[in-house]
Amino acid sequence: MADEKAILTFEGKQIELPVIRGTEGDVAVDISRLYNENKIMTYDPSLASTAVCKSTITYIDGDKGILRYRGIPIEQFVTERPNFIEVAHLLLTGHLPNKEEGVSFRQRLTDNELLHENIRYHFRNMPTAAPPMAQLSASLNNLACFHREFLVLDNDDDFMEVSARLISKIRTIAAFIYRRSQGLPYNYPNPNLRYCANFLHMMFSLPFAQYEVSQEIEDALNLVLILHADHEQNCSAATVRTVASSRANLFASCAAGICALWGPLHGGANVEVMEMLDGIYRGGLTPEECIRMAKDRENRFRLFGFGHRVYKNYDPRAKILRAACDKVFEKMKNRQNDPELNIARRLEELALADPYFIERKLYPNVDFYSGLLLRAMGIPTNMFTVMFAMGRLPGWIAQWKEQHDLSGGRIIRPRQVYMGPNETDYVPFEGRD
Ligand code: SDX
Repeated sequence: MADEKAILTFEGKQIELPVIRGTEGDVAVDISRLYNENKIMTYDPSLASTAVCKSTITYIDGDKGILRYRGIPIEQFVTERPNFIEVAHLLLTGHLPNKEEGVSFRQRLTDNELLHENIRYHFRNMPTAAPPMAQLSASLNNLACFHREFLVLDNDDDFMEVSARLISKIRTIAAFIYRRSQGLPYNYPNPNLRYCANFLHMMFSLPFAQYEVSQEIEDALNLVLILHADHEQNCSAATVRTVASSRANLFASCAAGICALWGPLHGGANVEVMEMLDGIYRGGLTPEECIRMAKDRENRFRLFGFGHRVYKNYDPRAKILRAACDKVFEKMKNRQNDPELNIARRLEELALADPYFIERKLYPNVDFYSGLLLRAMGIPTNMFTVMFAMGRLPGWIAQWKEQHDLSGGRIIRPRQVYMGPNETDYVPFEGRD
């Protein structure tokens, strides 16, 4: 209801606060004027109870395990031919592309798949063992140097053009990072290949042997990217929006998002999951030991790929990825009865039956099975978070646009509760202990 109010009673005062209700029933108490009018703050260090925006992009119901992009349930993108590029268009514009829009968007991606030749020299001076996420973040800011005309965006056509350039080029950059790390020559993009097939070509073709993309692998990669495409106000999207709120450009905001995603509690978890499964497979660990360590508060070990700030049910993406593993591995001769997939299943079985995980509502999240699929495509573990970023880029761009278009958008600048020393005096050097 328009004039619905909440009452905060404090120090003998009754403070009326407006109430906001979302289209799916979210309820928020608007405290945006609380400090200015009452000099009172709220305290929520991980923002677990705090909405920082109103958004129309992605909806999650963590208790029911629901995830929708622009209202469409994630399960409905699991078609016979999953199509990451149409999902990217949906996130960017709010609607699925019609035939003409699809052709035009794909053409923009094809026209922008190459990198400026000078960017190759940027890679050439990097150590071959340089962390891929460091290179990726640096490369996005590097792109700003070559596309300066898009540092300020004032119309939708420029927005779609720069979005297509970023989405197309992140694929080329990711492949170049991989090829450089392997000491292999770069493969230039092939304009006759679709988005994912072109990426796999750039990753794995050899000068004398064009990589043959199987339909299963191309579909699996489209699906992995779709499932990573957006996730409302996760750590990296919130980072993108915070940087966007200072009116920073899209390149800088997405580069910041990549840095946030790198963390092992966020997008870096897919690397940790694979290393955990490898640790068990190579004999250093057992699934039971993993569960025990994860439950030990003295131990920093976590059951990576488990738990989520929002999902208190099975992450719907993990459910889809688990089924995709079964489907893809079944078709791949060398992956049937894959030992690490079996270990993942054993870990899930143990955790889902363990009171520690049940009480805390810890279920598999998107990272638990994604790495197994990426590894089956031949993508090395240290590139997994780069793949997450490739999928998440359209979501970050959509979040950036929503923040950028806020009329009277204010800079995001939280307050603090100061707990430091009260006023004290400067002590000249000779008077110090
Ligand atoms: C992603 O936000 C998003 O949407 C992210 C993401 C996206 O698409 O952008 O979904 C992608 O980042 C998925 C999450 C990937 N991270 C991991 O898999 C790392 C392992 N999981 C956790 O570290 C943890 O579950 C988080 C970071 C995902 C969520 O952390 P919260 O919400 O801050 O929860 P918490 O750390 O306060 O945990 C609550 C309790 C604690 O125990 P108690 O203090 O109550 O005794 O659950 C425990 C935690 O110790 N716990 C775990 C655990 N996750 C939580 N214990 C063991 N193993 C785990 N994985």
